[in-house]
Amino acid sequence: MSGGYVNLDNASLTRVSVAFVSKYIALEGGDGSGKSTVVVALATRLETDGGEVVMVREPGGTPLGEVVRGLLLDSDRLDDWAEVFLFAAQRAELAREVIAPALSAGKWVVSDRTYYSSIAYQGRGRGLGEDEVRAINEKGLDGVVPDHVFVLDVDPETALARQHAADRIGKEGVDFQEKVRAAYLGLAESEPDKVVVLDGSLPADKLVDLIAAVVL
Ligand code: TYD
Repeated sequence: MSGGYVNLDNASLTRVSVAFVSKYIALEGGDGSGKSTVVVALATRLETDGGEVVMVREPGGTPLGEVVRGLLLDSDRLDDWAEVFLFAAQRAELAREVIAPALSAGKWVVSDRTYYSSIAYQGRGRGLGEDEVRAINEKGLDGVVPDHVFVLDVDPETALARQHAADRIGKEGVDFQEKVRAAYLGLAESEPDKVVVLDGSLPADKLVDLIAAVVL
């Protein structure tokens, strides 16, 4: 059966190929959980294994994203919903401009945070509603969502104590970080095939071993 059986235009082809790879990995966790070190160590491990890796961070990763990062983290104050939409706006562009093309080219994408941060920080931490924040973000992502989410779980008191310089959101304090942590643990319970909690007090190379055992 040829004519009329499969007739995909280029846009649908991109979407189809993105949907069938499982190479989009996100590191998540509260402030000071040590994600950034693990992102770099994981990228190195995947490259050693012969893969091509694109590392991204949120907010950031595109020229717009870096400007929005400044607005989000350096402003004195920001309306809570403005915060949600700014995170979602930079994320939509990052997904379309950087992440989808990388996945289509067969590369790994290792991300320091994703929209799971918004669900935890804005949805639960700010109390705006996890489902609402998820829906706003998914609208802009067009299916470009992480395949694996690893949450580095660290007690908030310990994590905040080891933070170098807290940004506007990182300064919210222990109660806020407790809510963020509860949200991550809840997400792991409701999406056990995708969201995995790891003990963030383990050394980075051990964490990379655990992640590699899942994704490779
Ligand atoms: P990040 O640069 O990862 O900081 P850290 O390394 O200290 O964790 O994230 C910056 C801050 O932005 C951090 O406090 C988490 C917060 N954040 C949100 O509140 N929502 C989001 O969607 C994202 C991506 C980050």
